[in-house]
Amino acid sequence: MRALILPDLEAISHKAAEIFLYLSKQYISSAKRFVVALSGGTTPKRFYELLGSDVFRDAIDWSHIHFFWVDERCVPKEHEESNYKLAYDTFLSKVPVRTSNIHRIKWEESPDITASEYEKAMQTFFGTSGLPVFDLIILGMGEDGHTASLFSGSESLKEKTRLAIPVYMRKPNSNRVTLTLPVLNNASHIVFLVAGKSKAHIVKEFLAGDKESKQFPAGLINLENDNIQWLIDREAAGI
Ligand code: 6PG
Repeated sequence: MRALILPDLEAISHKAAEIFLYLSKQYISSAKRFVVALSGGTTPKRFYELLGSDVFRDAIDWSHIHFFWVDERCVPKEHEESNYKLAYDTFLSKVPVRTSNIHRIKWEESPDITASEYEKAMQTFFGTSGLPVFDLIILGMGEDGHTASLFSGSESLKEKTRLAIPVYMRKPNSNRVTLTLPVLNNASHIVFLVAGKSKAHIVKEFLAGDKESKQFPAGLINLENDNIQWLIDREAAGI
């Protein structure tokens, strides 16, 4: 795995913002657009804030960037747990992105309908019923090795054809919708952001390349080495 260990959350956030800027320039100059899928969780917050800060806000050509989401809680968009709200509050509300370029996972009346509507929206945007190719996907990893809303032992890991699926959680009112492994593995670039002591045990397995790590959902993301960048802070790396 291609891993960069940096001092702290601030450093990995800066690196992620630099990668975002670099790739956005490359894609916009060659394809006239840059299509990204964002994650929620706590780790990307600082990265998102940096995107909305003066330096990056002014350097990025927002009008050609499209935003999708990796996963979403089944909550209204104003809800504290909404992944859309996290991105909106931290940077989307501060940069000149076109409203029509924001393709959030819209909560409909059920997780199934929400997932199938999101799938349709991707098919329309990408103009294919096959797998979309995101230029960049931002992912995180939970302490249990989950990524997106793909959890160990879940049937969702076996999904081969659908682009987005509902994820029913044990906790009431916490169902989600997530992109599937085939979509994540079809991205052109993936950046994983991992920070904090609580991740150290799982990161150790990844860094050692243990077979065990391949069984975690995050270990099932297998793009070519050059196209996947893990950004890990020292605490998560256990050093
Ligand atoms: C979410 C995510 C999820 C997240 C991990 C890591 O919406 O919660 O997409 O997969 O990336 O749980 O979360 P932290 O960054 O909070 O550790």
